[in-house]
Amino acid sequence: MNASSPSTHDRSASRREFLRATSAVALATGLVWPRSVHAAGDEAIRVALIGCGGRGAGAAYNALLAHPKVRITALADAFREPLERTLNSLRAQADVDPGRVDVADDHQFVGLDAYQQALASDVDVVLLCSPPGFRPAQYHAAVEAGKHVFMEKPVAVDAPGMRRVLAANEVAKKKGLAVCVGHHLRHEDKHSEVIQQIHDGAIGELVYLRAYFNTGRIWVRPRTPDQTEMQYQVNNWYHFNWLSGDHIVEQHVHDLDVCNWMMNDHPVEAQALGGRQMRADKDYGEIYDHHAVEFTYASGVRLFSYCRQISNCWNSFSEHAHGTKGQVNIEGHGSSVLEVVGQKPVVRKRGADGHQVEQDRFFAALVGGQPFNEVDYSATSTMTAILGRMASYSGQLVRWDEAVNSQLELGPKALTWEAEPPVQPGPDGEYATPVPGVASAF
Ligand SMILES: NC(=O)c1ccc[n+]([C@@H]2O[C@H](COP(=O)([O-])OP(=O)(O)OC[C@H]3O[C@@H](n4cnc5c(N)ncnc54)[C@H](O)[C@@H]3O)[C@@H](O)[C@H]2O)c1
Repeated sequence: MNASSPSTHDRSASRREFLRATSAVALATGLVWPRSVHAAGDEAIRVALIGCGGRGAGAAYNALLAHPKVRITALADAFREPLERTLNSLRAQADVDPGRVDVADDHQFVGLDAYQQALASDVDVVLLCSPPGFRPAQYHAAVEAGKHVFMEKPVAVDAPGMRRVLAANEVAKKKGLAVCVGHHLRHEDKHSEVIQQIHDGAIGELVYLRAYFNTGRIWVRPRTPDQTEMQYQVNNWYHFNWLSGDHIVEQHVHDLDVCNWMMNDHPVEAQALGGRQMRADKDYGEIYDHHAVEFTYASGVRLFSYCRQISNCWNSFSEHAHGTKGQVNIEGHGSSVLEVVGQKPVVRKRGADGHQVEQDRFFAALVGGQPFNEVDYSATSTMTAILGRMASYSGQLVRWDEAVNSQLELGPKALTWEAEPPVQPGPDGEYATPVPGVASAF
């Protein structure tokens, strides 16, 4: 392998097969026209929210604003407290008729099997907003139950989970189900307009990309004496790899998705540095607090990707493309700027919030009977982030073909409150953290 191009391995048949399975071509040709939901008449579009935390409450609110026929009729959460909090906050929204949050007592489901009860209820659409480790099983079950789905990113935390999501998605297409994934940046004009300009050649040939999700430290949900180990980990889910995928997968996936979108491709290999500088405490589970990954695409273009959750440092949530004729800089919460050499920079201010726009488009497609399925590119972006984590944890150069075929399943064998989670604290209460050079990538 030379310095500017990936190994020949990357052009293998398995990569082509994966691309075929996840490409826009598959998206365009594999879809059955969706069953429209109550396109006529006054009947409500009945929606269940599964995972009633911060984003779940936001997603349910977005759904209510997206279409006047939407009613939230079922809520499901592992725990009672967030369910009640979200129910109360939805009912208190000033711009939503409280009658549209119509969740009877027997449609409030609590526990690890709550999602199954919500799916068995009379809803048309489910919003899957629980921790990412549960996403493949919950998406699979939702498709089996014939529900239209909005689900948050990332769609999995390991390669077997990603493959399960893709397999379920083929069934979703055959059933004509509409599926939206929470990559809201895909629905922000500041992103789509400037990325179209990249594709049209405005900055010439792409030379390299940069991406950042550098923030301060995030929440911790402390252990309480009455909890089983499983209850503690599910509640404090962000800090466990089997539940969150680590913050490179949970959060930085937004930027990696944008970079894959800029490239119209996914990386073929990655090598990385990562570690845990400030999370040296049992409250923080097992995940890292920083990753720096060098991804390489088949064309030889490199993506320099950074994510960090350490307070009092330089922060950025942004993506950048550098080409032979100029560059594009996009702020996640701000503007995009197109800078072509010799021309005045063109600034595109942030428009409507993608969290709302994605659901406006999803429900419009549902009601109009239009195809809508965002899973293929989302699964590719999730897998890109998993590839980066594999490289960071192991310290090895990890190839896409090997990563997507990994058999390493992070989740537990049994999922009950009494069952043993896949990682356990040591005698000092601390969890083992992957050590580069020692940990296996797969
Ligand atoms: N698109 C975005 O901008 C965005 C922003 C924030 C979060 N998210 C995503 O949304 C998801 C949820 O994140 P959050 O910030 O709302 O977390 P959160 O902890 O606030 O909410 C998660 C909820 O899921 C519940 N839960 C846990 N296990 C469950 C299970 N098995 N079944 C049902 N419910 C279960 C938890 O009790 C909690 O109430 C994550 O995938 C996250 O990546 C996306």
